[in-house]
Amino acid sequence: MVLATPLCYIVLAMKPARSFASDNNAGVHPEVLEAIATANHGHTVGYGDDPYTQEVLRKFRRIFGPGTQAFVVFNGTAANVLSMAALTRRYEAVICAEAAHAYVDECGAPEKFLGGKLLPVPTQEGKLTVEAVRRAYHGIGDQHHVQPRVISITQATEVGTVYKPAEVKALARFARERGMFLHMDGARIANAAASLGLNLRRATRDLGVDVLSFGGTKNGAMGAEAVVFFDEKLSRDFLYLRKQGMQLASKMRYLSAQLDALLTNELWLRSAQHSNRMAKLLEKELRKISQVKVAYPVEANGVFAYIPRRAIRKILDRYFFYMWDEEQAMVRWMCSWDTTTEDVSRFAKFVAAAVKTGSK
Ligand SMILES: Cc1ncc(COP(=O)(O)O)c(C=O)c1O
Repeated sequence: MVLATPLCYIVLAMKPARSFASDNNAGVHPEVLEAIATANHGHTVGYGDDPYTQEVLRKFRRIFGPGTQAFVVFNGTAANVLSMAALTRRYEAVICAEAAHAYVDECGAPEKFLGGKLLPVPTQEGKLTVEAVRRAYHGIGDQHHVQPRVISITQATEVGTVYKPAEVKALARFARERGMFLHMDGARIANAAASLGLNLRRATRDLGVDVLSFGGTKNGAMGAEAVVFFDEKLSRDFLYLRKQGMQLASKMRYLSAQLDALLTNELWLRSAQHSNRMAKLLEKELRKISQVKVAYPVEANGVFAYIPRRAIRKILDRYFFYMWDEEQAMVRWMCSWDTTTEDVSRFAKFVAAAVKTGSK
């Protein structure tokens, strides 16, 4: 029997196997898949009482230090929203960057779930500063205003930059002095820690972070993240918040096995170092193309660049990616644990040709 091949498969087959659209578009790291397969034996208790989950929670405690309480969840939006929910009451607010994933890309889930408000602050290169946060910190004690309770920073930021340790410490100090908390959206914490040359604890808890959304998926997992509290008291109600937030996995062992794999033999670091290196290489190649202007310092695994408008369609036809800013013709190109040097040079060559020959 001859089966007709659907057109979409033909088109997909013509595209390169790997693109630069998102670190979410990469597959699952083989060591993670292997860990899932290893966990796939026999029956085990559900909802986190299984040995795989208990083991990964021990690992989180070993890595981040005494008092650490980690909770496995399915995705990064939930990790952010539930972290914030654990730290705020309904009339309180979270100060974040105007480009924060929680503010821009979570469909209002934080506001819906918290009942409170996000207070977005303009930034330079995606980073909050104490000065910028100070401007948003007002109306304290005024019954007409939401009360800021949390500062949320994204590390690495949404535009591929990385907060320096001193910058995180300064924000943590500002928060602590006002009875606030510092939350870190660490969807790419592995890339940030690798970039800073710090271990996971030094890049988070030791800088004054109270709660971390620990990202696994972009780092090579199939879909597993964690909310990590560094002060046990803050996590007291979290079991209930997670269940009410629809993030309690029944077959949790499969999520835990993924996180365990990332934390074993420093897979998190190997993958992050690799994707960061690929982004640097991509930046280097793009800087050779005079019509392309790199927009932000490349400090993690993403390259943001202004490209001639005429080239966008041409590149998109071959390599799917997202426009970061349509108006300014700024693109976002992300590298992953599986990006190769050949991928980068082939892509850079294609971009170079497209900016020269693209039609108006
Ligand atoms: C900065 C940041 N935070 C959080 C997330 C988590 O998103 P998701 O809910 O899709 O896992 C993402 C994913 O793109 C992200 O880029």
